[in-house]
Amino acid sequence: MPELRFTSTLTDRHRDEFFRDGAALLKGVLKPEVVKKLHEQLLPIPEWDSEKRLNLWMQHDEILDFYLFGPLGDIARQVFQSPQAVTSLLPPTAQLQRDFISTRSHNSTNGWHIDRTECQIGDQPSKFLSTALARLSVPLIAEGRVRSTQVINQSKYAAAMSEAREEYFAGKSMYRREGRFERLFLWDPNINVPVLPGLNLNEDMIMETWMEPGDVVLFNTCLWHRSPPWVGPGLELGLHPTFAPSNHISHDPPMWSDTKASWCLTDELAGKTIGEGNSSCFPYAYPEDKRPKVGSTLTLKRRPIGLPRHLAFSWVSVQARDMLRKLYFLYRG
Ligand SMILES: [Fe+2]
Repeated sequence: MPELRFTSTLTDRHRDEFFRDGAALLKGVLKPEVVKKLHEQLLPIPEWDSEKRLNLWMQHDEILDFYLFGPLGDIARQVFQSPQAVTSLLPPTAQLQRDFISTRSHNSTNGWHIDRTECQIGDQPSKFLSTALARLSVPLIAEGRVRSTQVINQSKYAAAMSEAREEYFAGKSMYRREGRFERLFLWDPNINVPVLPGLNLNEDMIMETWMEPGDVVLFNTCLWHRSPPWVGPGLELGLHPTFAPSNHISHDPPMWSDTKASWCLTDELAGKTIGEGNSSCFPYAYPEDKRPKVGSTLTLKRRPIGLPRHLAFSWVSVQARDMLRKLYFLYRG
């Protein structure tokens, strides 16, 4: 059966793929003219300007409206309500957690990683949607097609585990395995699959697909993933919003890696369910009565900024944990 165009209905097949393997390709979610317009608007933002490339919803009403009123928020709500998810019994819920623009050019890719801000506890299967947040990646393609984010298939990842498999399926894995994939701040792009202690991964485990304008890839940010190698010839742009359900609690948000959105969760808001307390960060797409009205979004807290001491402490604690994890795997393996 041919795929329907411009629908934001998640099918059982999408659900099966996402909850079994960790990613699903949603064809024709956005109209190509919408993608074209986003491409035109976002292309002039310079590559070096990280302030403008992160948390776009804080900077542009149109983008915020697009996330909250368009099909992406609606898809997130359906993902959280899927029977396979730990959030299945929640009332309709979806909040914007974070977004960013990605750029690829000149043979670029980045290294294999698990997201620090969106993956809160460990490398976890897709059903743990309260801590393993769902990303909806939208390649902004002017024409032609482009390779999607590469994601390690979670079924194959789990099958490659000998002892820790039960732990993994119970959502109790270590935050992430330390392996040969990341130099202090620069990723090593020359590794075809993550090299992790105690696991033998191979290239058959990589999920990747070709995408056309309007397609979206839904994936679990707690899975190992990376940008695909650039194929060019032009600059390849992508827009990557992550949605959270209302019961998501951000544990120890790494402020230094996202100084704005993570800052919304510090001090009096730390450890609280997002949306509780007096923060106007993280706008709701659902429930609809909590969604900000179109054009009234300036009431949201737009550019919260962390204090230097908070950023410094966050940086030190993340580095310390990274080091301890390295030692743990060194002596365990
Ligand atoms: Fe990532």
